[in-house]
Amino acid sequence: MPKNDPQPMLREPAEMQFAAELAALAASDTAAKPPGWKLSPRAVRTFIVGSEGTPSAASPKAAKGKKPAAAAPSTDTAITRKFHGDDAMIDRAIVTLMSNRGLLLVGEPGTAKSMLSELLTAAISGTSALTVQGTAGTTEDQIKYSWNYAILLAEGPTPNALVPAPLFYGMSRGHIVRFEEITRCPPEIQDTLISMLSDKVLYIPELKGEGNAVYARPGFNIIATANTRDRGVHEMSAALKRRFNFETVPPIAEKKFELELVAKQAGEMLYHAGAVATIPDNVIDVLVTTFLDLRKGKTEEGTAVERPNATMSTAEAVSVAFAAGLDAAYFGDGTVQGQHLARQLVGTVLKDSVEDAKKVKQYFEVVVKVRAKKDPNWKSFYDGRGVLGQ
Ligand SMILES: Nc1ncnc2c1ncn2[C@@H]1O[C@H](COP(=O)(O)OP(=O)(O)O)[C@@H](O)[C@H]1O
Ligand SMILES: [Mg+2]
Repeated sequence: MPKNDPQPMLREPAEMQFAAELAALAASDTAAKPPGWKLSPRAVRTFIVGSEGTPSAASPKAAKGKKPAAAAPSTDTAITRKFHGDDAMIDRAIVTLMSNRGLLLVGEPGTAKSMLSELLTAAISGTSALTVQGTAGTTEDQIKYSWNYAILLAEGPTPNALVPAPLFYGMSRGHIVRFEEITRCPPEIQDTLISMLSDKVLYIPELKGEGNAVYARPGFNIIATANTRDRGVHEMSAALKRRFNFETVPPIAEKKFELELVAKQAGEMLYHAGAVATIPDNVIDVLVTTFLDLRKGKTEEGTAVERPNATMSTAEAVSVAFAAGLDAAYFGDGTVQGQHLARQLVGTVLKDSVEDAKKVKQYFEVVVKVRAKKDPNWKSFYDGRGVLGQ
């Protein structure tokens, strides 16, 4: 994005946001690329786990000076780690995308499934834009193709009248298509993918003769995501399941990573929003600890607490930190305190659930109150509990 662009984008897609990193990786990428891929599998991995996260840095053998088998392309531009978690899962995901099966990322909401699918498509195909958003109302038109009715009436069904949808583009150009929240679509819509995944051809029966079949080019594949919370909305058919390799994306396991991530992402969001606010590390700690305790149903000290039904994911923690930052910037002195966090908990996470508010209130009375006696940040958090109601 040009520095003085009068109308910057609210959110850049991954291929724009990380254009410099992708260009640096492409320039130094000497490893073999699968047909249709912009980068080698190793470079794709480095793009996602960062140049520090490759086996060369992580394995103890490499530390002794042995050259690792899977050396990452070395670049002058630092490649940032974007996904914190199981690097082996990233390797398996990349292998799946080279194979003849689609990739299905399953997990709780807010575990970075959409982020991963965006990063993978940006690195492999150069675009993350070929996306179908699965909803109860998703139609075949939105997946394959539709018609421009003005041209259709004038010319009949000609290639000119055809309006391609993401799958049409993905197959004809050899790109990866993203299918978000696939299990929210009715099963018959989900199942339109079966023939495209197995035969790699999209038929357009309305077109006569040549051009009535789109054959997928190398590089085409599908990354779908599904939330475990939506399980049972529409279970996938066994036939479709067979065409996908499943990867479960768990919530971040290490507190240290979650602290870093929440601080970094909330900081970036505040910066882009033009808000001048600082979130001290100790305040981030209060937030992340609260989320971890409530997510696990057990505090760091081992006390059992009731888990709210609301999603207490990293993504929600980032939203709370961001909103608290805005609150502090515009209604406070610019430094986020515990009470700003407490104020945002209800609207951002608990929404309108009375039950959840009760559980969290209990957590405040049993856990936060005790911590508040020893620590001013927890004290400030405790002082903001009024929003949870009486
Ligand atoms: N393991 C993780 N590594 C990096 N970021 C994460 C991780 N888990 C969650 N996040 C953050 O939370 C956000 C989750 O958003 P999203 O990808 O929309 O989740 P999902 O699609 O799984 O519901 C990501 O954009 C990222 O900012
Ligand atoms: Mg998602």
